[in-house]
Amino acid sequence: MTTVLNLVLLGPPGAGKSTIAEELVHQLPLVPISTGALLRAEISARTRIGREVAPLLERGELAPDSLMDRLLRARLETLDPDQGLLLDGYPRTMRQALGFAAMLADYDRTLHMVIAIEVADDEVIRRLSGRRICEGAGEPFPVHIDDLASIMRCRERGGRLVQRDDDRPEVVRQRLIAYHQQTAPLIAYYEDQGILRRIDGSGTPAEVARRTLAVILRTENRELRTENRELRTGN
Ligand code: AP5
Ligand code: MG
Repeated sequence: MTTVLNLVLLGPPGAGKSTIAEELVHQLPLVPISTGALLRAEISARTRIGREVAPLLERGELAPDSLMDRLLRARLETLDPDQGLLLDGYPRTMRQALGFAAMLADYDRTLHMVIAIEVADDEVIRRLSGRRICEGAGEPFPVHIDDLASIMRCRERGGRLVQRDDDRPEVVRQRLIAYHQQTAPLIAYYEDQGILRRIDGSGTPAEVARRTLAVILRTENRELRTENRELRTGN
C-alpha cells in the first residue's frame, strides 16, 4: 500500500515553488495545483472570477479567501482519492489555512507536509524582475534576461518574450509585502503542528528540487512504516 501524499509548497513569490513542483511531479504521483495559475486561467478566459481578480493580481494583492476556497474546492472535486496533491501557492493566509484543513477533512485527506522554500528578498527581486516568459514556442517556459542561451533557444523556436504583468518592480514589492504580512505567519502555524520542513531555496533549480525530494521521501518512508505498523497491530 502506498501513502497518498498531500503536500504544500510555501514561500515568497519567486522562491521557485512552481519550478520545484514541475520537477517533483516527474518523480512522485502528485497532482500539482497552482492557485496563481488557476487565477490566470480565469483571467485569460475573461470569466466573472477573472474580471474580479485581475485588478488585484495587477497590484500584487491577494485574491479574497472565500473565492480561493471555492476555486480550490472545485479543483479537489475533480480528483480521485488515490491522487496525491502538491499545492503551490495555497494556503496564503491564516483563514485559508483553516479552510484548507476543513476541506481536507471533508475529502478524508491528511496534510503530510508543508515545505517552506527559503529565499531572501533581494534574490526574489533579481529573479522576478529579470523573468520573461517565452511564449509561442510550444509549452511556455521562463527565461531570465541574463541567460543568453535560453533567450536564444526561445528566439530560434520562433517564440517571443513577455513579462508577467505582476513581475513589474513595483508589483513585486507589493507581492513581497503581502507575503511577509499574510503568508509568512503560516510557517510558525505549521511548525507548531510538526509538519513544517524548511528548504534552502538557493542554488540551481535542480539542486533545490533534489533537496526537496530527499525531504519528502524521508517523510514518506516514515508514513509507510507507521501505516504498516498500524496494519500489523490493527490500530
Ligand atoms: P502565483 O502565480 O502563485 O505567484 P507567486 O507565488 O507570487 O510567485 P511565482 O509564481 O512568480 O513564484 P514561484 O515561487 O512559483 O517561483 P518560480 O518557480 O516561478 O500567484 C500570483 C498571484 O495570484 C498572487 O500574487 C496573488 O495575487 C494571487 N494568488 C495566488 N494564490 C493565491 C491564494 N492562495 N490566495 C490569494 N491570492 C492568490 O520561479 C521564479 C523565477 O525564478 C522563474 O523565472 C524561475 O525560472 C526562476 N528560478 C526558480 N528557481 C530558481 C533557482 N533555484 N535559481 C535561480 N532561478 C530560479
Ligand atoms: Mg509560481
